[in-house]
Formats: sequence, C-alpha cells, structure tokens
Amino acid sequence: MNILIKNARLVNEGEVGEGDLLIRDGRIERIGGEIPAEGAEVIDAAGRVLMPGMIDDQVHFREPGVTHKADIASESKAALAGGITSFFDMPNTRPQTVTLEALEDKFRLAAGRAWGNFAFYLGGTNDNIEEIRRLAPGQTCGVKVFMGASTGNMLVDDPATLEAIFRDCPTLIATHCEDTPTILANEARYREQYGEQIPMRFHPAIRSEEACWKSSSMAVDLARRHGTRLHVLHLTTARELALFEAGPLEDKRITAEACVHHLYFSDADYAALGSQIKCNPAIKTAEDRAALRAALAEDRLDVIATDHAPHTWEEKQDPSYFKAPAGLPLVQHALCMALELVHDGVLALPQLVHKVAHAPARLFGIRERGFLREGYHADLVLVDLEAPQTVRREDVLYKCGWSPLEGRTLRSSVIATFVNGELKYDRGRFLGGPNGARLEFTAD
Ligand code: DOR
Repeated sequence: MNILIKNARLVNEGEVGEGDLLIRDGRIERIGGEIPAEGAEVIDAAGRVLMPGMIDDQVHFREPGVTHKADIASESKAALAGGITSFFDMPNTRPQTVTLEALEDKFRLAAGRAWGNFAFYLGGTNDNIEEIRRLAPGQTCGVKVFMGASTGNMLVDDPATLEAIFRDCPTLIATHCEDTPTILANEARYREQYGEQIPMRFHPAIRSEEACWKSSSMAVDLARRHGTRLHVLHLTTARELALFEAGPLEDKRITAEACVHHLYFSDADYAALGSQIKCNPAIKTAEDRAALRAALAEDRLDVIATDHAPHTWEEKQDPSYFKAPAGLPLVQHALCMALELVHDGVLALPQLVHKVAHAPARLFGIRERGFLREGYHADLVLVDLEAPQTVRREDVLYKCGWSPLEGRTLRSSVIATFVNGELKYDRGRFLGGPNGARLEFTAD
C-alpha cells in the first residue's frame, strides 16, 4: 500500500517547509510540493508536523526474564503511541546480555513482536572482555558499561578491565556513570540517621553530583587515552557538562545524552512524587536541569532519550529507600515531553528533531533511518503541537500501568506513527500487528 501524506509541516535537517511525502514499499519515495495521489491512500496532515520517528537509544524493556515489569511487545507498543519508531534496549535482563549468544537470542525474541525497529546492547562485565572483542563492528548499537552500579548488578569496576574494554571494544561504548564507592559512603551516612526509610528527597544527595563527576570524568579520560568512541548516557549535572565539547557531531569521538525526565523534573518534585521519580542517576536541581537544557541548545549534549525503566507500582511503593527500585516508565510521552522544550523556547523545532532522530541515527551509524530522505525507510511521526493532552492512568499503555506524569498536561500530542512505511498508530488505535525490523549499522 502506498501512502501520500499531504500538506504537512515537514521538519527535517534544519528546515521547516510545507509539503507532501509519498511512501511506497516501506520507503520514502518522494518529498515535494504537490505530489499526485495516483492510487495512494491520502492522509491530510494540514496543520501538523511530520518528522522522522524518535530513535530512543536507551530503554529497558525487561526481556528476557523480568517480564512481570514489562516486555518487548507491551513497551514498544507504548513507545509507538509516543512517536518512537526505533529503540536500543539495555543488557540488564535475566539472563544478562553479556554473550554474543544472548545478544542474538534477544534479536530473535524481538522479531515479529516489536512495534518499532530494534537493537540491543551487549553488556560489559568484569570478565567478558573476550566476548566484547568478538563483537563485529556493525553487529549492533554498541556495548553498555555500567561504570556505576544500578538495577541488575552489572557494575564494571575493575580498573584493568575498564582499560581493556576502552582499548579494544570494536563498537561504540555507552556508559552509565556514577561512582559506586561515593554512593555507598553517602548511603551509609544517611542510613545512620534515618535507617531504611531515608526520605526520597535525599536520593540526589546520595547519588550525588560528586559521584557523577568522578565516574564520567574517568570515562572521558579513558576514552581520550584510548581514542574510544564513547557515548555517556543520561547526564544530570551542570558540572559534568564541562567534560563535553559543544559543536557538531561529526567532530566528536565523545558524545553525550540527556534524558527526558532529567530535562523535565527537578528535585522540587520529590515532595509530591517520591519514589515514582527515583532513578539512577538521580534527578538533580533546577539549576542542573537548566544547564542540561542549555547544553542541548549549544550541541554540548547530542541526543535526547528516555532510559525508560519500568517497575511495578507495588515495587515502587516499598517504604524502604533501598528496596524501592530506581527507574521510570517514559516512552509513551517522551517525545511530547521533549517537545515541551520547543514550547518553552529552549530548542527550535528542527533542533529538537535533530536531537531525537538525526543525531542518534548518525551517532550510532544507523543505516537509512532517522531522516526524511527519499530512499530512506519511512519511519515517521505526525505531531500536533497545539493539541494538549493530560496524562491519565487509564490511558497508560505500559505493562506496569502507571506513569510519573499522571495529572500533568503536555502541550503536544502524537497523532500518528508510521514504521517501515506502514501506518501503525492512528489517534489512539493500533493497526495490524508489529512490524519492527532489526536495525542495521554501518561498520565504521
Ligand atoms: O533508574 C534506573 N533504572 N537506572 C538504571 O541505570 C537502570 C534502570 C533499570 O533498569 O531499572
């Protein structure tokens, strides 16, 4: 089936212009002024923004093994409703994705069940360097290294191993940076005072600025010494931003990500939301948030992603600071959360499109996606910037059934999402079955 999207506000590669876009056989066939329908199904997109679908370079969809929280089918469907057409999933599953066999098992698990296109990180450990060396360039998005302990016991803290991984990894390395000894010392101090029930507002004092700085500066130092292609995930503090350079992606070997919750919430929100916004790294101050936003605008931070990390409502209600798990479900509203930055004048619309689609496509070397370009796969999202939505629990699509945004109003809505040329989400309805494909990457 061919689809002609007419009269849209096309946003792509720094430009905004009215036009039509024709999809044929899964690809963008033509982009232009007045394209004749010639038998194609016509969608009138007047007044709406048409952009490449969001590429989320960091999600936890919990498969295999942790599927009481989420699974690839449920979360990729929620992501589709949020305008996300491709995702990279993290290795802290059960079993952990720390062998090439487990990695390929995950690709098989996603085939036919993912509503978006997919890739999976291989996880680094203190003892799988041989497995990392065997990874083929282009086989997947990269290797994830937890340089700070978080959900799933995947801390890599052996100095010799870190040197070897940064020296020999055949792909990009994506890091979680928080210094665990610093965090453990902070935890001990607060435990002395409050016992198990440390008030959640102290989470950013425990998972502190210092913990972030120590670890991310170490990652950057390792990468500089070894010439590693490094991508530091979910930056949260103003201080760390000095480690990264402002400027175009093409000039960088070291890049960095911001996540929607760190751009949206601040420590003022712990009072009302408590463990709902407990995540690692922690949400910090309003000043840190302002610095992250400014760093996006000056291309010091390169991509916007989610770190979608669902846990059940019951798990999140555990009164123990230590037992309530860290992580927020986000994919369903992530693009609209990011679009708040456009409404607030922080980013121009083409800059936002760059951060959520072009930059992740380029930075990871995704083949033929992430742009409105003739010949590219038609992964698209139609957005209405003037259709506010209030997030309600009954509309939440995650398996865990809740969102930290409940009761909040976002100023934009996702109207429709196309994956591989097919209309898969249309104003609240899902059409047909999942058709996500394995993402392909360039090998350089
Ligand atoms: O808050 C987080 N949750 N941070 C992580 O690094 C892991 C994630 C999870 O898997 O729950």
